[in-house]
Amino acid sequence: MPVSGTAKSQDLASADALLTLKDLTLRFKGQTNDVVHSVSLRVRQGEVLCVVGESGCGKSVTSMAIMGLLPGKATQISSGKLSFLAQDWDLATDCLPTEVRGREIAMIFQEPMTSLNPSFRIGDQIAEAVQRRRGNSRTEALERAEVMLQRVGIANPKQRLRAYPHQLSGGMRQRVMIAMALANDPQILIADEPTTALDVTIQAQILDLIRDLRDETGMGTLMITHDLGVVAEVADTVAVMYGGQVVEQGPVAEIFNNPQHPYTIGLMSAMPRLDRPGERLAIVPGTVPTISNMPEGCRFRTRCAFATAACAQRPKLRDVASEHEVACHFAPLETHVKVSA
Ligand SMILES: Nc1ncnc2c1ncn2[C@@H]1O[C@H](COP(=O)(O)OP(=O)(O)OP(=O)(O)O)[C@@H](O)[C@H]1O
Ligand code: SF4
Ligand SMILES: [Mg+2]
Repeated sequence: MPVSGTAKSQDLASADALLTLKDLTLRFKGQTNDVVHSVSLRVRQGEVLCVVGESGCGKSVTSMAIMGLLPGKATQISSGKLSFLAQDWDLATDCLPTEVRGREIAMIFQEPMTSLNPSFRIGDQIAEAVQRRRGNSRTEALERAEVMLQRVGIANPKQRLRAYPHQLSGGMRQRVMIAMALANDPQILIADEPTTALDVTIQAQILDLIRDLRDETGMGTLMITHDLGVVAEVADTVAVMYGGQVVEQGPVAEIFNNPQHPYTIGLMSAMPRLDRPGERLAIVPGTVPTISNMPEGCRFRTRCAFATAACAQRPKLRDVASEHEVACHFAPLETHVKVSA
C-alpha cells in the first residue's frame, strides 16, 4: 500500500528543528563495541519522527541518552551533541537540566508501571505535575487532569481521578502516563512503544491525540515503534536503526515506497495496511549479532544478500534523494533489488 506523506514532509522541510541529536556514540562499560554508533536524528516543529528497527538495535538507549537517563557509572558516552531550544549540550560531559527535561520534553516509557507512584491517586499525580510545571492552582490542575484523562479515552474521568494505580488495568495505567506526559503541552514528546499494550480502538485514539497536539501546539514527537501501521499513520519522517546505527532515514513516503537499504527493504516486505493495525515489522532472515559480535564495516553484512568485500568498510549515511539518506555502499539499490526479486 503506497503511503502518502510527501506534501507534509515537504512543508516540514522549511520548518525549524526543535531537537537535534548529532553523532551519538556510546557503550556500556565492560563492552568492547559501541551499542549506539554515530546516531544523528532531528525532530522539527510539528513533526513526528518514527524510529524503527529490530529488538536490541538501540532505540530505547538512544532515547534514554537524549533524556540523560542512562546510568552514568555504567555508560560511556564518547560523543553526542544535543541541540534543543537554541541551546547545545555535549552529552559526553553534560546532560539536559532536569527542569528542561520535565517542562519542555515529555517521555512515555516502554515500561509504564515503573513510572506511576503506587501510593498516590492518579488525579493527584497528574495535577501535581501540572502545578509544578505550569504554576496552576490545584483546582485548575485537577480540571486539566480530568480533560487529559478524557482525551486519552478514559471513561468517567472525574471518578477515575480518585483511583490508585493498582485499581487500573495495565492499558489504563499506560493511558494515565500518556495523559500526564501531555498535560503540560511539551514542545517535544519522546514516546517509546507508547501504544503497544493498548487495544486497537484506544491506540487509534492516542494517535489522534498526538496528531491533535501536534496541530494545536506544534509539538514535535520522536516515537519508537515496531508497528508499521502506526508508522504509516503518524510519521512524517522515519529513521531505521540496525545494530546501533541509523541505516536509512527520510520522509515516510520515501521510506515506504522507495526503501533503499537492504535492511529496510527486508523490513518493508510486509507492507503496512491501515485496516490491519498492529502488523509488525517483517522478519529479516538471520539473527542480529550480539553487540560484542558485530562485524567490522557494515554491521548488516552478516545478513545482507548484497554484501561484497567492499562491505568490510563501514558505509556512511549519504543522500540518495532530497532528505533521504542511506548507509550502504551500493545505494541506490532499487535496480539491483528489482532484478533479484
Ligand atoms: N543498562 C544496560 N547495560 C548493558 N547493556 C544494555 C543496557 N541497556 C540496554 N543494553 C543493551 O543495549 C542494546 C540496545 O538496547 P535497547 O534497549 O536500546 O534496544 P531497543 O532497540 O529499544 O529494543 P526493543 O525493541 O526490544 O525495546 C541491547 O543489546 C541491550 O541488551
Ligand atoms: S554496505 Fe554492503 S552489507 Fe551493508 S547493506 Fe550495503 S550491500 Fe549490504
Ligand atoms: Mg526498547
